[in-house]
Amino acid sequence: MTNFKVGIIGAGPSGLAMLRAFEAELKKGNAIPEIKCYEKQDNWGGMWNYTWRTGVGKYGEPIHGSMYKYLWSNGPKECLEFADYTFMDHFKKPISSYPPREVLFDYIQGRIKKSKARDYIQFNTVARWVDYLEDKKQFRVIFDDLKKNETFEEYFDYLVVGTGHFSTPNMPYFKGIDNFPGAVMHAHDFRGADQFIDKDILIIGSSYSAEDIAVQCYKHGSNSITISYRSNPIGAKWPKGIEERPLVTHFEDSTAYFKDGSSQKFDAVVVCTGYQHKFPFLPDNLRLKTKNCLYPDNLYKGVVFQENTQLLFLGMQDQYYTFNMFDAQAWFARDYMLGRIEIPEAEERAADIAHWMKMEAETETGDDHVDFQTAYIKDLMTYTDYPPFDLDKVAEMFKLWLESKEENILNYRDKVYRSVMTDTLAEEHHTSWMEELDDSLERFLDEEEADEKELSKVNYY
Ligand SMILES: Cc1cc2nc3c(=O)[nH]c(=O)nc-3n(C[C@H](O)[C@H](O)[C@H](O)COP(=O)(O)OP(=O)(O)OC[C@H]3O[C@@H](n4cnc5c(N)ncnc54)[C@H](O)[C@@H]3O)c2cc1C
Ligand SMILES: NC(=O)c1ccc[n+]([C@@H]2O[C@H](COP(=O)([O-])OP(=O)(O)OC[C@H]3O[C@@H](n4cnc5c(N)ncnc54)[C@H](OP(=O)(O)O)[C@@H]3O)[C@@H](O)[C@H]2O)c1
Repeated sequence: MTNFKVGIIGAGPSGLAMLRAFEAELKKGNAIPEIKCYEKQDNWGGMWNYTWRTGVGKYGEPIHGSMYKYLWSNGPKECLEFADYTFMDHFKKPISSYPPREVLFDYIQGRIKKSKARDYIQFNTVARWVDYLEDKKQFRVIFDDLKKNETFEEYFDYLVVGTGHFSTPNMPYFKGIDNFPGAVMHAHDFRGADQFIDKDILIIGSSYSAEDIAVQCYKHGSNSITISYRSNPIGAKWPKGIEERPLVTHFEDSTAYFKDGSSQKFDAVVVCTGYQHKFPFLPDNLRLKTKNCLYPDNLYKGVVFQENTQLLFLGMQDQYYTFNMFDAQAWFARDYMLGRIEIPEAEERAADIAHWMKMEAETETGDDHVDFQTAYIKDLMTYTDYPPFDLDKVAEMFKLWLESKEENILNYRDKVYRSVMTDTLAEEHHTSWMEELDDSLERFLDEEEADEKELSKVNYY
């Protein structure tokens, strides 16, 4: 049955995957329901749609974007490749394995521009509140059209939430930080390392943001970088100029004191303590409540909300896999909404969720996490016709990637991997990552630079 209405909140990679999943069905000549997507920014792409702004946007809404200038992919692109639109389809030539943000944004847009997806999206429109109307068995969603400054409501049979979860900072308090004289910011507001040249920087946290912002600051010329961890150090072989210390206990003016009794003066603090899953538009009974993990509670198959099975969430997991995982979820969501996938009763769903959560609890290492998410996507893909690809090979690449960061945190982005979709071996970038200060698309695809590199190779050998 297709005479129902689907609302999608967010046009980032997850929301776009949902649109693409329906479009794929349309292309096969099949009927699809009425769909409408609402995006609070003025363009699609979610995180990949870079903004220089921090704080609030021009309409006074909290800024969604957490990406920064000089941000390059932190995992091989071969691990996130769409199965139905490859990097070769898009760039028509091999490119390196770690593209900068603008290049990945271009790739995401390439696939969606080939469809009519834009017609389904209303931009500059924020979801404000959702109610489930028991009598109608529908959601009533209140939106604000930010441009027109008008409030309106829509009714949907299914609601798909793809609003991301790396936008609202988790910002802990440290005694004395109130009087720190320099800049104190969360990673969400970091927009590039330029302002930290020649400075002594303290980074708090020990995950991807901490690691990458530390390396960015090092690359762009900070004087020293200290990473302060709560549970475990990152443990990379850091170059002179980056070091790790246990957690900050307190600040006195510009001096930070650490758990090991050491102290140091800093010019700025970048707090990289992760993000909150935040859904200010969802009432308590419809709100997903979770921390950043691989299998959030209350989501059957990581997608269908346990308490109300007309409510679906995409992309709410911690992410090794990204774009192709969102696709696998969106294809599952589509076929479920179209009635092709029958889901079991609440009790059985709860048991399935518990099974996956138990498996996650038993993981210990990065490799275990990769295996877990690989198994999750494999399971999802058994339900749909999303083009199958060799997930075991992708898992192998993820493990090599983890290893390569341990070997050399500064040059792991120079390594190349082979696409499991097209068997194309990535091209080495014309300039090593540590030397490359220009992250523009033009520079990345620069043929002349690539030719120069080829020539110098010939001379060398
Ligand atoms: C700093 C940083 C770097 C990253 N680097 C990489 C990387 O190198 N490789 C990788 O694969 N992944 C990376 N990621 C992960 C990234 O989150 C995913 O790649 C992807 O963007 C997630 O897609 P999404 O659609 O689920 O969420 P998002 O990209 O966050 O998109 C959500 C969308 O929902 C919209 N929205 C939110 N609330 C509302 C509302 N109330 N009403 C209407 N619209 C709303 C937002 O404006 C946004 O457009 C990075 C994340 C961060 C924070
Ligand atoms: N492309 C890129 O280069 C790039 C750059 C940055 C980020 N990203 C992406 O952004 C996403 C988010 O990464 P993230 O690192 O921001 O978040 P995250 O992976 O959720 O990590 C949060 C970190 O904050 C620490 N933390 C939480 N509360 C704390 C507290 N009260 N005190 C001290 N430490 C605390 C955690 O430490 P514990 O271990 O103690 O819990 C953990 O190290 C990831 O998907 C990542 O891939 C990508």
